[in-house]
Amino acid sequence: MTPTEIAEHPIFRGKWYHKLELAPGLVTSGAGFDNLVVTRKLLDGVNVAGQNCLDIGAMDGLTSYLLERRGAARPVAYDRNCRPSNLISNGDRFRFAREALGSKVEYLWDMPLKDVWSASAAIGLRTYDVVVFAGVLYHMFDPLSGLAVVRNLVRNGGILIVETGATLDASASMHANVAGRFYPADDYWLPSVRTLEYWMRFLHLEPLDGAFLHHRVVDGLPVIRVAVACRAVESFRATPEDTWMHRQDEGLFNADFQECLNWEEVKSDRPPVPYTHSGGHIAYHPGTNVMDLFTTLTSNPALQAAAHPELSQLMLADR
Ligand SMILES: C[S@@+](CC[C@H](N)C(=O)[O-])C[C@H]1O[C@@H](n2cnc3c(N)ncnc32)[C@H](O)[C@@H]1O
Repeated sequence: MTPTEIAEHPIFRGKWYHKLELAPGLVTSGAGFDNLVVTRKLLDGVNVAGQNCLDIGAMDGLTSYLLERRGAARPVAYDRNCRPSNLISNGDRFRFAREALGSKVEYLWDMPLKDVWSASAAIGLRTYDVVVFAGVLYHMFDPLSGLAVVRNLVRNGGILIVETGATLDASASMHANVAGRFYPADDYWLPSVRTLEYWMRFLHLEPLDGAFLHHRVVDGLPVIRVAVACRAVESFRATPEDTWMHRQDEGLFNADFQECLNWEEVKSDRPPVPYTHSGGHIAYHPGTNVMDLFTTLTSNPALQAAAHPELSQLMLADR
């Protein structure tokens, strides 16, 4: 596609979600959402070169193209058709950008998240080494099932980066988006960071690192965008006093797990994907090596990111 063909195309001239430079000086009309700042900050800790990578909820594909440029072996993007009534869908924009950029990112499109495992198997992948799950969790009717389905896409030893709206409070809560008090669109639940960390550990994900951006206070709750880098591990990560989580060993939760994931499928002989911590102090739950996300985030100013317009866009020079 020539720059003139891009510039004059109705898809380029229409509304976009991400700001993507598709040819020198030709930047799509996206909003430049600042949650991308925290996602990219943690993604910088993963050497994705040679790894199979999945970008869940890719929208126009900013993170997918970034993974490709950083040398992912098989960069794959997934999205559902989230604007079916629009003449131009998110899938149309993704494919347009892919062609304009000369990208080879593989695209799993127009299916529910629970079908991504079999669609990935159909292209010879099943699980991935690195998965980015950014900006999706709070859009889900059932975020715990959603996170469990995503867990089934990360092989043990792999890295999952979850980015979501959340509340920076110490309660173990899921806060309902009653009357759109947090977000105005198809948004349902905001986890407190304590809940987010807990469900990760429940799903055999070990939190390694975090970053957040403060947005505003709603009903006394600090609303943030938070990204957490986790390693997929072979068992749950319970604190010593948590006998409830240990009941996984008794099979108490088996039926629920079986509807979302299969622990046999995520087993892997491949070496762990290296992760370089973004720096700063990590707080642990007493007597453990389990990261305490709430205390880590609130006691470590280095983890609070600043809105950064350049990181909210993908320019041709980005790697
Ligand atoms: C806010 S956009 C995030 C785009 C991008 N990941 C980012 O961080 O900039 C939300 C994305 O999640 C997808 N999505 C929303 N609800 C979903 C659901 N229940 N299951 C799967 N994908 C969903 C949308 O199609 C869209 O691509």
